[in-house]
Amino acid sequence: MLVLVRQFLKDSRHTGAIIPSSSRLALAMTRSVRSGKHPKRVLEVGPGTGPFTKPLLRALLPGDEFHAVEINPTLSNRLETRLLQPFRNAHPEISVELHCAPIESADIQPGFDHIICGLPFNNFPPPLVRRIFKRLLELLAPGGELMYFEYAGVRAMKGPLVGVEGRRKLKRIGATAKILSRRHSGKRKLVLGNMPPAVAVRLTR
Ligand SMILES: C[S@@+](CC[C@H](N)C(=O)[O-])C[C@H]1O[C@@H](n2cnc3c(N)ncnc32)[C@H](O)[C@@H]1O
Repeated sequence: MLVLVRQFLKDSRHTGAIIPSSSRLALAMTRSVRSGKHPKRVLEVGPGTGPFTKPLLRALLPGDEFHAVEINPTLSNRLETRLLQPFRNAHPEISVELHCAPIESADIQPGFDHIICGLPFNNFPPPLVRRIFKRLLELLAPGGELMYFEYAGVRAMKGPLVGVEGRRKLKRIGATAKILSRRHSGKRKLVLGNMPPAVAVRLTR
């Protein structure tokens, strides 16, 4: 957990949290990967210290493919050493790749059945939020599913602290989320067992 605090102090905008997501939120974010068809291609964006990566790796079977895209080199190295390399050694028949890059420009092929995204969208400028969602939806296979989460009521809570321009940005991010939800059959699940409580959002292509 301390590693996330250190990375947050260095770069709060990208890191977005000082506490990793809980196992409850991880279950909500990864449920359909555990029950879906095989072989499948799974992409995790912003794995951080790996709370979603662990259940995702457990859900994989021979022939499946897993990619993780993490912008932060310290968190990438940690994920590789602690989770991905040991998993590859134990399961050579499952393809596991780590890309230390921003999702906006990571060199990955589209056609993912599941994308699990842990990015702190409410910290980003609205044009970047739209660009990243566009990229994520392009990376999804037809019929695929994109999961992301946000802290419950985050825009209402941040609003009074960020000034007029900040509130305008949060409003635009909220509007983007609403449009995406309408276009992509959005479903929301409140997860109280997270610090702070969070909403897991499911979009489909
Ligand atoms: C809020 S943390 C979430 C970490 C973990 N998924 C969790 O739920 O605890 C956000 C993570 O996204 C990463 N990140 C931020 N912007 C990114 C980008 N553009 N591309 C890839 N990763 C990014 C950060 O470095 C950080 O590890």
